[in-house]
Amino acid sequence: MRQMFQIKMPQEVICGEYAIEKLKDKAHGHRKAVIFTDKGVAQAGLVEEPDRLLREGGCETEIFDDIPAEPACEQVQQITDRFLRSGADLIVAVGGGSVMDTAKLASLAAEGETVKDYINRPLLGKKRVKTIMIPTTAGTGSEATPNSIVLVPEQELKVGIVNPEMIADTVILDGTMIRNLPEKIAAATGIDALAHAIECFTSNKANEFSDMYAMAALKLIFKYLVDACKNKENIEAKNRMLLAAFYGGVAITASGTTAVHALSYPLGGKYHIAHGVSNAMLLVPVMRFNKDVCGKELAEIYDAVGGKTAQTQEGKADWVIAKLEEMVRELGIPASLKEFGVGREDLEELVEAGMKVTRLLDNNKKTVTADDARALYLEIM
Ligand SMILES: NC(=O)c1ccc[n+]([C@@H]2O[C@H](COP(=O)([O-])OP(=O)(O)OC[C@H]3O[C@@H](n4cnc5c(N)ncnc54)[C@H](O)[C@@H]3O)[C@@H](O)[C@H]2O)c1
Ligand SMILES: [Zn+2]
Repeated sequence: MRQMFQIKMPQEVICGEYAIEKLKDKAHGHRKAVIFTDKGVAQAGLVEEPDRLLREGGCETEIFDDIPAEPACEQVQQITDRFLRSGADLIVAVGGGSVMDTAKLASLAAEGETVKDYINRPLLGKKRVKTIMIPTTAGTGSEATPNSIVLVPEQELKVGIVNPEMIADTVILDGTMIRNLPEKIAAATGIDALAHAIECFTSNKANEFSDMYAMAALKLIFKYLVDACKNKENIEAKNRMLLAAFYGGVAITASGTTAVHALSYPLGGKYHIAHGVSNAMLLVPVMRFNKDVCGKELAEIYDAVGGKTAQTQEGKADWVIAKLEEMVRELGIPASLKEFGVGREDLEELVEAGMKVTRLLDNNKKTVTADDARALYLEIM
C-alpha cells in the first residue's frame, strides 16, 4: 500500500440519461422538499421537472431560486435560516457547485449554530435532513465531496469547510441537465474537473483509490472536454463529462487538490474570478512548476490518455502539459489576470493570501515558497 486512505461516499448514485425520473421514488416518505437552485439554472428550465416529480412522489415543495454564485458566508447564513423556517425534511440541489455547496451547509442547519461556527469548527455540524444532489455543471464534483466552499469577505478569501456529514445521500447524474449549458460555463467548469483530477493524481495525498478515479476522470476529460463544450449535439461527450466531474469529486474526497486550487482561492476571494477560470489560468504554470517532482505521474497520464510519440518520462510529461495548454486555449478561457484588472500592484497581497491556503499547499509534492507563488502569479499577469 502506497498511502493510507479513508473515504466516505454518497450512499447512492443514479446515472444515465433521464435518471432524473427516479426523483419521484426518492420523494416517498418525505413531507416537504426544498429545491435549491439559482436564477441561471431556473431560466434554463431545469427546475420544473424535478419539482413536478417530487410532487408526484407525494412531497410538498418550495423552491429557493436565489442562491448566489460563489456565495459569501453571510449569504449562506440567510439561506440556511430560511431553510430552517421552511420545515422541510428533504433538500434537492439542482445546480452547479455554488448551489450544491449552499445546500450541503443548509443540511446541517440547527438552531444556535452558524455557518461561521462551521468555518471555525468544521466537524461541528450534523446532518439534519437528507440531501439529493443533481449537478447541472460538469465541473466541481461537489455532489461527491464532503466540502463546501464559501467566501469570507472580511478576509477576501474563499475557505473550504470539510465535514463528511455533508456527503450527499443520493446523487443523480443526468446528461440532460447539462445539454444546454452555455459554452463558456461548460469550458470553465470542465477545466475545474480536469484540475481536480490531475491535482489529485499528483498530490501528496494520492493513493490507489483516488488514483483510480482521477485517472478515469482524466481519460474521459482528455477525450471529451473540448467536444462537450463546442459541439451542442454531442450528448455522449456531455454525459461523459458529467461522469468525469463526479469521478473528480471522488478523487478529491480520497486525495486532495494542490497548488492550482490553493493559489486560485484568492483570485476568487478578492477579485471574484469564477472558480473554473482562475484554475484554468493557474493549471499550466503550476504543472510546469511541479514537473520535476511529478514527472512519473505525468508520464502515467500520457500512457493512459493515448499519447504515442514521446519516449522519455520528460517527453511524456511535456506532452501532457502541452495538451493542457491546448485545451485551455481551445476553450477560449482568459489566460491573463489583466482581463480582470489585476496587476502587479496586487501581487504581494495575492502572494500573502495564497500562502495562507496551507490546507491545499501542503498537498503539493513540491514545496511552494512565497517566492514560488510570486513567480507563478507573475506568469499569469
Ligand atoms: N464542494 C466542492 O467540492 C467544490 C469543488 C470545486 C468547486 N467548488 C465551488 O463551486 C462553486 C462553483 O461552481 P460551478 O463552477 O459549478 O459554477 P456555479 O454553480 O457558480 O454556476 C455558474 C453559473 O452557471 C449557471 N448554470 C449552472 N448550470 C447551468 C445550466 N445547466 N444551464 C445554464 N446555466 C447554468 C449558473 O446559473 C451560474 O450563473 C465555487 O464556489 C467553487 O469554489 C466546490
Ligand atoms: Zn475546483
